[in-house]
Amino acid sequence: MSDPAIAVGPRPHPRWPLPQPVIAAKRDGAALSPPQIEAFVAGLVAEEGSDARWSDAQAAALAMAIVLRGMDSTETVALTHAMTHSGRVLDWRAEGFDGPVLDKHSTGGVGDKVSLVLAPLLAEAGAAAGVIVPMISGRGLGHTGGTLDKLEALPGYTVNPPHETLLRALREAGCAIVGASAELAPADRRLYAIRDVTATVESVPLITASILAKKLAAGLQALVLDVKVGSGAMMPSLPMARALARSLVDVAAGAGLPARALITDMERVLGLAAGNALEVREAIDFLTGAAREPRLEALTLALAGQALQLGGVAADPAQGQRMAAAALTRGGAAERFARMVAALGGPRDVLRAPGLAAAPVEREVPAPAAGRIARVDVRALGLAIVALGGGRRHGGSERIDPRVGLTHLAAPGQQIAAGEPLARVHAADAASAAAAAAAVVAAYAVDDSALRTAAAVAAEPVVQADAPVVVETIDAGTALAAQRASQSRS
Ligand code: URA
Repeated sequence: MSDPAIAVGPRPHPRWPLPQPVIAAKRDGAALSPPQIEAFVAGLVAEEGSDARWSDAQAAALAMAIVLRGMDSTETVALTHAMTHSGRVLDWRAEGFDGPVLDKHSTGGVGDKVSLVLAPLLAEAGAAAGVIVPMISGRGLGHTGGTLDKLEALPGYTVNPPHETLLRALREAGCAIVGASAELAPADRRLYAIRDVTATVESVPLITASILAKKLAAGLQALVLDVKVGSGAMMPSLPMARALARSLVDVAAGAGLPARALITDMERVLGLAAGNALEVREAIDFLTGAAREPRLEALTLALAGQALQLGGVAADPAQGQRMAAAALTRGGAAERFARMVAALGGPRDVLRAPGLAAAPVEREVPAPAAGRIARVDVRALGLAIVALGGGRRHGGSERIDPRVGLTHLAAPGQQIAAGEPLARVHAADAASAAAAAAAVVAAYAVDDSALRTAAAVAAEPVVQADAPVVVETIDAGTALAAQRASQSRS
């Protein structure tokens, strides 16, 4: 087989600029030049002992300077470009795939199983145009679940298949949900590990470059971004979510990748279940039509409509949504999911016999008082699942328990009677179930007073209980217009 990827390393420099003046320039608030940014990225991937290499301390110092001083859009584009080309850039045409290459990225949430259903749905809806969806996904991060962890709840599913197996899955199913290989954006791999332990994750330009470098290296032609907002999101407030969404679509557009962001509700768990095996079960039920929670369906179809339009398969998002809805109804998306799972080593008949393990302990969590559910701390629910063993406490290669999680979650805005269930806990043992039940009770703010106190008003969710799941749509055009408008006002 021919080499699937084009290797593009950092451009050789006659003499690499020293790291110290680059760090000092950003520390003092200057914009970095493209050669300075290239030197930084090259320094992340250069061999130990080489002149070009930046130490962890130097990379962390620059990351912190960027967190504090920011980067303008020219710098962010340059950083994204350099990180994209720090490793291999996939070329699907060279592999014989001529159709649009589509993908979706979510900034992470609780109960977010959209990737599991959207990848086969896009492949089915766009099959006539030759759409493929090579979805490079991640593991759980902090309180959020990870698509790869969910799929590994299926016995035998391999998230790092040999390249031939990946190609077979794409040929047979039109989609493949897998992890990033070590060759894809290696500068991000090193920088992300450094940021993770140096309090330098929370930076719009760094997050933008990190997400987009991996997506651009994956050879996409259109990308739809699901930027979550609310108590369970990385960006809890609307202005923060907007800033990230605008940066992502602008920089993607600057790199030639058509992209659009939907800002979506993470003031409640998405769908009916949160937890790895439980979410796979829900995804299968969604695809087969056995159960489709309306907000999960609305979000999935909205993202599908945008992706199909951006990829040139649909004339507009509404037509894309109709194509996706038809693909769901005719069952083709479910069949593609089954073919993908089988090709990647999972159960041969996943729709009928997924082989998902169930937790040995199940218990309901009764509401301690009657009232209206005013707010749910979704981050706390995510952390309760991590504590049950459904996520990693210490990171790295720690094993997780795919069986555990939460289902039957009461929703914001709902009236609840004392003793009625807030949720059902799925746990490995009674002690962890009791701890999770206490965490669930603490995560629910039940408003039992007719008087709206100042504290209750301050605790108002960003997304109101009766609001649609898609809060806003941000595309490069509106983002640039908004940026220009705010510049002309200031
Ligand atoms: N996800 C990423 O891939 N990178 C970040 O920096 C944050 C979230």
